[in-house]
Amino acid sequence: MPVRNVVSWAAMIAGYAQSGRLLAAIAMFQEMAMEGVRPNEICFVILLSACSRTGSVEESWEFAASMARDYGLEASREHYVCLIDGFGRAGRMATARELAEGMPDQPNGVAWAALMSASKIHEPGGKFAGRNVIEADDPASYVLLASSYASCMVLGIPVVGTLFDATPARIRRGLMSSPIIVLSVLLCCWKIQFSRALPTFRGGLNRADGLCVKLVQPYGYQCEELAEFWDWSVDELSAYDLQAMLEMVYARTNSKVLYVGYSQGTQAAFAAFSEHRLVDIVEKAVMLAPVAYVDHATSLLTLGAQTHLDLLIASLGIYEFSLRAQNKPVTEYLCKLSDDPECTENFVTLLAGPNCCINDTRRAYYEIYEPQSTSAKNFGHLAQQFRGKSFDKFDYGFWQNLVRYGWISPPTYSLPNIPRTIPFLFFYAAKDALAAPQNVAQLVSELQSKPELVFLPDYAHLDFVVSYNAKDLVYPKVVEFFNS
Ligand SMILES: *[C@@H]1O[C@H](CO)[C@@H](O)[C@H](O)[C@H]1NC(C)=O
Repeated sequence: MPVRNVVSWAAMIAGYAQSGRLLAAIAMFQEMAMEGVRPNEICFVILLSACSRTGSVEESWEFAASMARDYGLEASREHYVCLIDGFGRAGRMATARELAEGMPDQPNGVAWAALMSASKIHEPGGKFAGRNVIEADDPASYVLLASSYASCMVLGIPVVGTLFDATPARIRRGLMSSPIIVLSVLLCCWKIQFSRALPTFRGGLNRADGLCVKLVQPYGYQCEELAEFWDWSVDELSAYDLQAMLEMVYARTNSKVLYVGYSQGTQAAFAAFSEHRLVDIVEKAVMLAPVAYVDHATSLLTLGAQTHLDLLIASLGIYEFSLRAQNKPVTEYLCKLSDDPECTENFVTLLAGPNCCINDTRRAYYEIYEPQSTSAKNFGHLAQQFRGKSFDKFDYGFWQNLVRYGWISPPTYSLPNIPRTIPFLFFYAAKDALAAPQNVAQLVSELQSKPELVFLPDYAHLDFVVSYNAKDLVYPKVVEFFNS
């Protein structure tokens, strides 16, 4: 590399820090300083997190002092969190707590979570940090705990997993994936393939309006360029996003959740329920355009699935699957397969079905947001389900399946495993090109319980959420079902 700037140095330091080689990371840091490159705040986050992981609390003190003294950098929340995490892990709870209380801004959810996970280990029965997360009337920690995507996925999983007595496996995963480690990867290693080094980092950076934007974009990179940003399908939506959101709601409201899913939101819930996840905290569930199987879908996307567009995209190294007009290659590809000469104009209809009741004066407004991108992996997963007429987990291929699932093919989400204790209300539509009536019928026939069914003969896929008469045809029944 001809010019080594602070970013490339930081990436190298992070590389050593990641593999637990603290001394090498420090040597790299010193070399950088000797070359006259000024470290920035992020380098110190990386160093401090490496210290905390290796239990080197004295060194972390040194670095924290040097940061202010030698470089005039102010310690931010992230630095404090690293220190708190380090002292907490080392069992020095009094210092950790003092640090949390002395943070420049109010301690946020991550700080409390670091403290909480330490106090779980070192002070069995200690509950104070968790209470503080709830009590800290700090929008940041609230958002952190509650937000559905970015922060929840990056930081919230350890937080939620640690706070709210999740299953032991989740707690273990939470503790292993220290939030700080994820932070440092995000910060420094965007151009480096980290998926293997970081198995816990996946899913739902989808709406990365918090962390990624704050930490990556100032350096001129777009979150959407990260392979990791898009590394999710319904498996991750279900196991991470949905799980964290519902547990959060349950913990905060102290009552069971009334769930309304739509489209893939229903599939994520069916996946969870079939594995007996979340079944104890969901009181009732309304499924709009319920999806488990997709092989009867008539959407234009199925032509993509039939022609293995997903594999083509994967082989091109494209992570984002965008159907917006500006993403010409994909829309053109699909329209070439279509026999509709007006394919481009009718694109949304061909994707979702002929919606009856969308307000035409608002259409332009909706089209600012729809159709949204999804991940190429998610499209690949749906294509796999379409071709296989199955509701299986993501197929990583023979060897990777063996490693991940212990078998050469992916496991099936078994619908008969969904307990009959959850009352369901399903809304489905005659003209829905994605949640086709035949597939809804198959789903219903495999459930142990008998869901209440509402059939809408004029609706297609988008009508459930953007039609002008959903407020008459759909939502009152939802409310009535929850109240009954
Ligand atoms: C359609 O949208 C316009 C603009 O928002 C609104 O004034 C009108 O009442 C809507 N029509 C219906 C049938 O809801």
